[in-house]
Amino acid sequence: MRNINEDTITQAVIGSLDKCENPRLKQVMTSLVQHLHAFARDVQLTEDEWAKAISFLTEVGHITDDKRQEFILLSDTLGLSMLVTTQNNKKPANCTEATVFGPFFVDGAPVYQNGDDIANGASGAPCYFKGQVRGTNGEPIANAWLDVWQSDEDGFYDVQSSVARIAGETEFRARGKLQTDDQGFFNFRSILAEAYPIPHDGPVGRMLNAIGRHPWRPAHLHFMIQAPGYETLITHVFREGDQYLDSDVVFGVRSSLIVDWVPHEPGITPDGKVLDVPWFTLDYDFVLNPIASKP
Ligand code: BEZ
Ligand code: FE
Repeated sequence: MRNINEDTITQAVIGSLDKCENPRLKQVMTSLVQHLHAFARDVQLTEDEWAKAISFLTEVGHITDDKRQEFILLSDTLGLSMLVTTQNNKKPANCTEATVFGPFFVDGAPVYQNGDDIANGASGAPCYFKGQVRGTNGEPIANAWLDVWQSDEDGFYDVQSSVARIAGETEFRARGKLQTDDQGFFNFRSILAEAYPIPHDGPVGRMLNAIGRHPWRPAHLHFMIQAPGYETLITHVFREGDQYLDSDVVFGVRSSLIVDWVPHEPGITPDGKVLDVPWFTLDYDFVLNPIASKP
């Protein structure tokens, strides 16, 4: 392998994969090299641009730690996360659609009972959420686990709190796990979701700025729903009327996931309490895909 030139380099690199024993790895690496080289040829990448790209990726690595995942933000903002989510979550038409996972899920959130307040002090207007988890034939799914997480009214998740970051610990707020009852129903109190910008004080934020994009996500509540015999559903419920529904920075909005968060005057709430501030209700049912029906 000598005297490789601009025209032969791609085939030379692909040929160097000959001894790769993992067929899937070989396929992925071959395609990656083909597309990477085609990209460099297409834009006639300069040495200066190549060096800038390397230093950008280096910065993405340096700012990433166990609480801040800049590589996922990069994937999200370039639409790669939603592309991978969509192509891996093809479901029958009546199933709830999946959307992007995001970087703010935390394993081991506190377990709540139906009716509990999961806000745990997170700031925001009270919101009462109820719904049912069903299968594609309408069967209620008892004992399904719901992981719920959301940001507070200032747009911050509990894991973003500087106190939590410095102490290296997480105080769980507006985040929890609960189980459906024997008819598949669930209900909990939390707070009204608000639109928020994704973390944009790092290289991904600079990239967005340079290409004329804003960093905002429309208001949403995250769900991960798990039940034996069904595919795990990772999704959001979005708030109707949000100004960013058509320009979500991570391309995650699906019309079927947009719901009215209904405002109520101060008064008696679904849990029988009396609130002297306005509050909201949100009703949404989820339909999971039975594992056997996967195409
Ligand atoms: C989120 O919704 O939590 C999220 C998703 C992608 C990037 C940043 C945040
Ligand atoms: Fe989010």
